[in-house]
Amino acid sequence: MTEFDDLIAQFWILGSIGRLAERGLLYRAAAPDDEVSALGQQLLIDTGWLLTDPLRPSARLLAAPPPGVPTSALSGYVREQIARIGRFAEGAPPGWSEPNRDHIRWRGRASGLIAQGIVERCCPDVLQRATDFLDVGTGAGGIAIRLCEASPGLRAVGLEISPAALDVARVDVEAAGLADRVEIRDQSVADLTDVEAYDLAWLPQQFIPRGELLEALPRVLRSLRPDGALVVALAPENDLPNLFSGGGTLPAEEAVKLLEEAGFHTVEVHDEVVTGRR
Ligand SMILES: C[S@@+](CC[C@H](N)C(=O)[O-])C[C@H]1O[C@@H](n2cnc3c(N)ncnc32)[C@H](O)[C@@H]1O
Repeated sequence: MTEFDDLIAQFWILGSIGRLAERGLLYRAAAPDDEVSALGQQLLIDTGWLLTDPLRPSARLLAAPPPGVPTSALSGYVREQIARIGRFAEGAPPGWSEPNRDHIRWRGRASGLIAQGIVERCCPDVLQRATDFLDVGTGAGGIAIRLCEASPGLRAVGLEISPAALDVARVDVEAAGLADRVEIRDQSVADLTDVEAYDLAWLPQQFIPRGELLEALPRVLRSLRPDGALVVALAPENDLPNLFSGGGTLPAEEAVKLLEEAGFHTVEVHDEVVTGRR
């Protein structure tokens, strides 16, 4: 085995996690006639991702999904990541150009769970009194849907520029019975003109090119009501996946500076986000 073979073997481990999660086979043995899944299970046992007697995910596999996302949802995560690396290898330009509706939908569900946890921790007071939420880069509308489901008095506007994502979001908002509370808008955040319309805004800068982010910050500030809050995700320096996702790397000190320069006050750094108030 060359070192390159070892590298490829890592992909088969990842692929096995995706395949087995999809079929519920992280917790029960594959059928005798499903030889490839059984070999996938053996591979995961040999490499410490699965435990035996009974068959179950190891602690590190349980820790693999993003916070709040169940292990059963790992399949979507694995497929999304492999597809993204594939686009990178093909030479695709940076940007969130996910065309696959299943992947878009998976990201939406995961984002909803992740963002809900973050917002509840970072600005519980705002969440409690909020009646209007701005979801920038709404993707499948996952965050808007999740927060509106959790807060019956909340309405949301989701901004999105990808036709595929806009399609998925509109279908999913309708399916969630939220068409009267969630507006999915075909608009870049760099063109936002709303004034004092929202109490809370979510801005996933890791998917927004820096020029658009700089254009967006004062616009989002203007769109917030007094004491409304903005939540911006941080990203470590020189992070290749983030750069390829279309945004930039945004360390905490730089994020604080950007928000303060845009006019936000009470700018605070939390674990993975920075928040600012209008
Ligand atoms: C990975 S998605 C976020 C997932 C989303 N939160 C969900 O729940 O599905 C990031 C989205 O930001 C969108 N985006 C990128 N630049 C944008 C911009 N200038 N204005 C609005 N959306 C933008 C991308 O098209 C992409 O769908």
